[in-house]
Amino acid sequence: MQIEFSKAGNDTTAGAIVLLIKHDLILTSYQSMLDTKHQGLISATLKATECFKTKFAHAKTLSVQDNGKIQQIILFSLGEEKNLTSNKFAELGGKIVSKLAMLKIKDAVVHLDYASTITKAGIAALMAEGASLSSYRFDKYFTNQAESEKFPLQTLTIELEDEAEAKKLFKNKQALIDGVFLARNCVSEPANKLYPESYANIITEELEQCDITVEVIGEAEMRKMGMGALIGVGQGSTNESKLVVMQYNGADSSESPVAFVGKGVTFDTGGISLKPSSGMADMKYDMAGSAAVVGVMKALASRGAKVNVIGVVGLVENMPGGNAQRPGDIVTTMSGQTIEVLDTDAEGRLVLADALWYTQDRFKPKFIIDLATLTGAIVVALGNTFAGCFSNNDDLADRLIQSGTKVNEKLWRMPLHQDFKDMMKSDIADLANLGNVRGAAGSSNAANFLQKFIGDQPCWAHLDIAGMAWEKKGSAIYPKGATGYGVRLLNQLIQDYYETN
Ligand code: BES
Ligand code: MN
Ligand code: ZN
Repeated sequence: MQIEFSKAGNDTTAGAIVLLIKHDLILTSYQSMLDTKHQGLISATLKATECFKTKFAHAKTLSVQDNGKIQQIILFSLGEEKNLTSNKFAELGGKIVSKLAMLKIKDAVVHLDYASTITKAGIAALMAEGASLSSYRFDKYFTNQAESEKFPLQTLTIELEDEAEAKKLFKNKQALIDGVFLARNCVSEPANKLYPESYANIITEELEQCDITVEVIGEAEMRKMGMGALIGVGQGSTNESKLVVMQYNGADSSESPVAFVGKGVTFDTGGISLKPSSGMADMKYDMAGSAAVVGVMKALASRGAKVNVIGVVGLVENMPGGNAQRPGDIVTTMSGQTIEVLDTDAEGRLVLADALWYTQDRFKPKFIIDLATLTGAIVVALGNTFAGCFSNNDDLADRLIQSGTKVNEKLWRMPLHQDFKDMMKSDIADLANLGNVRGAAGSSNAANFLQKFIGDQPCWAHLDIAGMAWEKKGSAIYPKGATGYGVRLLNQLIQDYYETN
């Protein structure tokens, strides 16, 4: 779908015209003009129900005739709230696109003659962002998709006087959307197409284009560095594990970098502690944390963010097999600490143990944020509404939560505590990868285990995104499937707090 911004004048040929209705139902001059042209149909429709006064994004489609051609006028209510947040405009853009797609309209015009505390151009860019995010489809594997099944909406034109400013603002958003789409594409790929090596190739191709340095580290080198935990997870697979290191320098080289680390389990069968077969196909998205890292690297570099960023992703496939690690095996991590692998399905923390240690040891970053689809328990606690946020630094946690609220990628703070660390003790090694109290505090156990691998880094956050990586039903800006959760959140965090001028 193509987004355009232009001054008024495309409306007569478009399949649909979208109008934004204020809660006092007072029509703008453009809306009045249309109302008169269609014998008062618009004003009469608005008065027929209370919904346009009270609800947000209430929609009504009117079929009208213009010079013998049928056109749809779609009314969208703005609701009672005085100062709509940025989120709400993005949501509105998303809902407009869903409506237009449902009506199988090919080209539509949104006539924007509304401003709030945000300018018209700002609103236009936000709506365009939501519209784009909502138009995403992963359809590359349909071999004969009928014309009628394809995403129908081809062009959405937002009409406003200040189209030049809107275009300028949207440029940064386009970079962000590209990052989100890259993340969604990676997460959507099935595990026979996306495995550590092919994934590393995609990362290299996609990121080298935008001046990011990409290093791909194979097993031999990882073994030399002592990454026994990460290697152990991948050893049951015929696909070699990879560690991918990305570096983007948008600020002065004297600025210490920030670092993002991602869990990239391209498929999680559970290993010898095999998962039940029902729902196992979902485990292709067990690399969503890494995809968020790759996506945000792309977004930051594409918009030229003034910050130095390191991205590190541990890519492994967790398979049972003749050489797979066994429950009870003891591995030695790069940090030197040993881990008794009581459950081969608690593999994400093993991958992150080495990836986190490597990142803090090599780069000494300002902060480390890791993202991982780490535990089913976080879904029990927070559902699909919040990702869990564990942090040893209150400022970082607060900043993350605030930036998340701005872009509607919500976080809820969860506890780190000595009690949970005590639960990760092993009788015969430094740590166990499974808590010793059955069914208790699964997500906190995992987070406290990770904290053992950040060295003396005083500024670290772990985001457990297991409930946020995949959208089952489809909502305003997240169509069914991979969400790309984390890309917009981390981009916002950098923009709000970490860019130099
Ligand atoms: N990848 C899973 C967690 C997960 C669950 C992600 C649901 C997305 C949706 C993780 O590797 C896992 O298997 N965790 C186990 C840990 C347990 C064995 C301690 C879990 O949550 O059951
Ligand atoms: Mn697992
Ligand atoms: Zn996993």
